[in-house]
Amino acid sequence: MNKFTPAKPAGARSVDEITGSRRLRRMRKADWSRRLVQENRLTVDDLIWPIFIIDGENRREVIPAMPGVYRMSVDFAVKEAERAAKLGIPALATFPNVEMGLRDQTGAHILEPDNIINRATRAIKAAVPEIGIITDVALDPFTSHGHDGILRDGVIVNDETVAQVAAAAVLQAAAGSDIIAPSDMMDGRIGAIRDALDDNGFHDVAIMSYATKFASAFYGPYREAIGTQGLLKGDKKTYYIDHANSDEAVREAEQDLAEGADMLMVKPGLPYLDIIRRLKDEFRVPTFAYQVSGEYSMIKAAGANGWIDGEKAMLESLLAFKRAGCDGILTYFAPEVAEMLKG
Ligand code: PBG
Repeated sequence: MNKFTPAKPAGARSVDEITGSRRLRRMRKADWSRRLVQENRLTVDDLIWPIFIIDGENRREVIPAMPGVYRMSVDFAVKEAERAAKLGIPALATFPNVEMGLRDQTGAHILEPDNIINRATRAIKAAVPEIGIITDVALDPFTSHGHDGILRDGVIVNDETVAQVAAAAVLQAAAGSDIIAPSDMMDGRIGAIRDALDDNGFHDVAIMSYATKFASAFYGPYREAIGTQGLLKGDKKTYYIDHANSDEAVREAEQDLAEGADMLMVKPGLPYLDIIRRLKDEFRVPTFAYQVSGEYSMIKAAGANGWIDGEKAMLESLLAFKRAGCDGILTYFAPEVAEMLKG
């Protein structure tokens, strides 16, 4: 057997000849120099905290698929809003788990001015006026089938859904919501919501469009949180974007901006950093990511098992959003990160 001896030519180039004396490790050599050249930073101002609301009083329910996340009655949510405001978290995004008896084919309960989502907004705004409230106007927490739209003969009907979502947005604004965030992906919803808000004098209520919401497996734990997982038949592919597509996401965002969206959101987050970067480069508008339930639970589960350092993975994932071009992130980690950044 021949043994292979690597050649060492007399004229081998030194590393400095190879790199032209450029050595990127120079600035990585110490903590101070790494801090000095750090390009992106995560601060508490980047965080939006999604919370789950339930009926009743003094109730806090565990969500098994989302360790550390709870469904809270409105009084509890007010206390958590106070805590969030003290931590400096700029805004909350509220999601209801609606009593099963109040869910129906069209999600009509979304048009109840005193439904749980509007009651939560009123209570939080009264107690903690300095925190921003973002409300989702999708129908899925209110429908008996878990879809984001009105279901007629097996079809999610677009225009009827848009009319209902726009009416619901006005009620949410009247309750004190600062930002309406439609997550249903119906065509024309942004323009219809803008018109409805303006017609009712809510010129200052902004719209954060879930512009690029992909049909995704990462929403699983959220469906447990709001109780739609047992209800949903089929999938949401007739209205959410195919996760194979990127140009289509840009077209959605372009359309939503033309219709009056103030901000764009990409959802899910980490598997879609390429979309975030494209949107930021293309449109230069405030851009957000939703680090969704499945992303949260994966990090939590691996951390709890000791397979990864959960805290470090959490911070790394959030900073990745900043690097990709995000102005902020909706994340269930918000209070945990805020505490950590403070300490
Ligand atoms: C639907 C909606 C979804 C989420 C928030 N609103 C997706 C879905 O259930 O299809 C997901 C949030 C998450 O996974 O954290 N309007």
